[in-house]
Amino acid sequence: MNIETTIDLTKVPQHVALIMDGNGRWAKKQGQERLFGHSIGVEAIRGTLKAATRIGVKYLTFYAFSTENWSRPQAEVDGLMNLMVKTIASEVDELNTNGVRLISIGDIQGLPADCREELEAAIDKTKENDTINVILALNYSSKWEITQAMKKIAAKIENGTIDSEGITEELISNEMCLQNIPDPELLIRTSGEQRLSNFLLWQCAYTEFYFTDVLWPDFKENDLYQAVINYQHRERRFGKVSEQLI
Ligand code: FPP
Repeated sequence: MNIETTIDLTKVPQHVALIMDGNGRWAKKQGQERLFGHSIGVEAIRGTLKAATRIGVKYLTFYAFSTENWSRPQAEVDGLMNLMVKTIASEVDELNTNGVRLISIGDIQGLPADCREELEAAIDKTKENDTINVILALNYSSKWEITQAMKKIAAKIENGTIDSEGITEELISNEMCLQNIPDPELLIRTSGEQRLSNFLLWQCAYTEFYFTDVLWPDFKENDLYQAVINYQHRERRFGKVSEQLI
């Protein structure tokens, strides 16, 4: 695809969030174990990152492991954690060379020690980079995030830092994981499912949703470009009427 002529590079979403769904179904179709689907899913992350960098996206958030995913069969959970450790370890230098900053959201204290350590080392190594930010949602759920934000705000009230009138949208946003990062303008979910699954509920208040039947391991550069083109044809009114936008 000639992206220079098909994508308006002045109107690329700054932040794209992705729910990578369909790895298990993809693997089954190939007669393979579910974990094989996840490992090919990593290739799709790589391709998406390359494509997003090319068009100037600044933040890419991937829903890699939800708090609900712990209830999957233990072998799949262990395999996913191993895949994360191996992938982060093997990719960190290339990410760093390409100016990628790695960030995580979620309760990383609840991850296995090797996964947390590898992740923290990669976050530290890439912290000065600013070509593109890759945000991995790991052991993340929106309800967990909102609950921990409420606890921090309650503590501020208890110790007298603020009173209830001090609770503003800005204050709440600042207690969320993605503080200082713009809300996603575009959220993509693969595999034909059309729901948020406890992902970025606060941050997606005005996000455009794009659902595709493509299974995550088959998601290629052009699929990202298609989603961005579709987004660029939408009118984002933020509660106003069309005429007010001119
Ligand atoms: C959803 O597909 C996918 C996941 C729960 C895991 C996604 C994780 C990866 C692609 C690997 C991440 C690695 C790094 C380094 C971030 P599914 O298993 O629910 O598919 P199904 O709905 O077809 O069963």
